Amino acid sequence: MSFNKKHLLGIQHLTKPEILTILDTAESLKEISKREVKKVPALRGKTIINLFFEPSTRTRSSFELAAKRLSADISSFSKASSSTVKGETLKDTVLNLEAMQTDALIIRHSASGTPHFLSTFCRSHIINAGDGTHEHPTQALLDAFTIREEKGKLKGLKVIIVGDILHSRVARSNIFLLNKMGAKVVLVGPPALVPPQMARLGAQVDYNMDRAVKDADVIMMLRIQLERQQKNFFPSVREYRSLFSLTPKRFETARKNAIIMHPGPINRDVEISTQLADSLKSVILKQVENGIAIRMAVLYLLLGGKERDVTD
Ligand code: CP
Repeated sequence: MSFNKKHLLGIQHLTKPEILTILDTAESLKEISKREVKKVPALRGKTIINLFFEPSTRTRSSFELAAKRLSADISSFSKASSSTVKGETLKDTVLNLEAMQTDALIIRHSASGTPHFLSTFCRSHIINAGDGTHEHPTQALLDAFTIREEKGKLKGLKVIIVGDILHSRVARSNIFLLNKMGAKVVLVGPPALVPPQMARLGAQVDYNMDRAVKDADVIMMLRIQLERQQKNFFPSVREYRSLFSLTPKRFETARKNAIIMHPGPINRDVEISTQLADSLKSVILKQVENGIAIRMAVLYLLLGGKERDVTD
């Protein structure tokens, strides 16, 4: 196995063999969640803390369940119930938590670069669960895992990522990962949310959703992040919907076996129609299911799980 990183800070600095190791490890760990007793002793005795300074449904619960299925002890911490509201600095908060002999810290923060900052002074393994508009590596890994499961490969596929690319850490991590794996990435949305310079990340840009959808193998819709927008990036939700929403009429023109993805949370009938989000073409809930296997793989590889401890 090819994995000797101490932290998971992003996809940008992972190699293709390291990405493949995570995907392959997740594939072998996925069946644990289907056992009657969904638990193996691989990380028994390890202590992990989830530090979420931003809201989360999927990522936080998924890391918690992944840690528990590997028998690690995990404690979850949110900004509202911590002493940061009393003025404690992030560094002090983290040093105090590390004094409790943690092995790994999983961090989500609104400031890009926070996981990297922690990695400069922490003894624990640092895992990025989403930092500002920078990266969300485990989301891109679970997306790649889901695409590979559905399509049997990543290389050569056309993946369109539609929506608020400018503010999207999910898009950035996906662009890095899909490029490394040989997929073609096309970014779609209004110019204010998909500036032409995004092409420098290694993707094509297309402002015409109808054209982009036609030969796509994977249609990845993103949430319109109203909370991150300092100004209006498009004139109205109605206009956005008419130009970029994934509607049944638009999807009819897509390839017969195209799949629909979304990292969640979804804005129903804004970026994606309810009918399509709930259709058999949608793999949105499979993405969530696969998130546990990917996060188990990341914890297992970083914290030194033993193969003999995961076999039935
Ligand atoms: N995809 C994702 O990061 O969802 P949450 O914000 O619910 O964790």
